[in-house]
Amino acid sequence: PAGNTASPDTAERPIVIQGAMPVETETLVAALDHPEEVHVQGWTFWSGTVAGHPVVVSRSLKGMTNAAAATALAIERFHPAAIINQGTAGGHDPALHTADIVVGTTVVNIGAFKTGARAEGAGTDFATWYPMDLLRTEGSAGQDPSAWVMHKFPGDAGLLAAAAAAKASYTAGHVVEGVIGSSDVWNSELDRIARMHTAFGTSAEEMEAASAAQVAELSHVPFLAVRVLSNNITNGEPYNTTVAGPCQQYVLALVRAYAEHGQVGTTKR
Ligand code: 5AD
Repeated sequence: PAGNTASPDTAERPIVIQGAMPVETETLVAALDHPEEVHVQGWTFWSGTVAGHPVVVSRSLKGMTNAAAATALAIERFHPAAIINQGTAGGHDPALHTADIVVGTTVVNIGAFKTGARAEGAGTDFATWYPMDLLRTEGSAGQDPSAWVMHKFPGDAGLLAAAAAAKASYTAGHVVEGVIGSSDVWNSELDRIARMHTAFGTSAEEMEAASAAQVAELSHVPFLAVRVLSNNITNGEPYNTTVAGPCQQYVLALVRAYAEHGQVGTTKR
């Protein structure tokens, strides 16, 4: 494929790095050697190399649906060795601060629930909502109590090791491991955030990672989410998107560590 400098029959498979917004992809695109812009339907990809290893930067666009489609297209088109979903997030843990990075030991979908049953006029209460695992059963997840659990998408061990190896390169904040929650909802209710943090263990929330993780899991592609806090209302910190740049630099260090330790497989085609 485009951007691949190795010989075609033993080509190294690329690492796909996703970001939703221009501010979350520009540093990555600027870091590519031999960049080539590719448009697939409504999505943009840049293929190139980082330290001689093939990398594809994907602008997934915002939200769960866009992220799923961008992930499926990337897998079909680029046959990646691994996918990293990165970008900004909001804190669920008051101990975390703006510019801190959460590396996803697991990623969960915090938009998949069955609400409690409540009478007309009884209002809504998030405390009574059950998580709903949409992958667990072929029947109705709403009717099957065994599906009322939070599905955990684990981060790939090799990518987590590379994330740990790259930690020392990040000076803008702390790098911690944790649970990242995704949905198409921007949560600003502190009680709701507190329940997610305590019941589901979330350290941060955003709108793409679990969706990309689900498509990667079904496609057997190693996956990791890496998210930098641009806001954290649990401790009242102001919104700051400038953290997206240093996060991309950290991900580039992670990718170099991953590629240099021979994690990337090759494929014959
Ligand atoms: N809640 C939800 N999404 C957030 N994002 C940053 N902070 C938050 C937050 N507190 C990210 C999402 C999406 C865009 C709105 O910014 O991933 O792409």
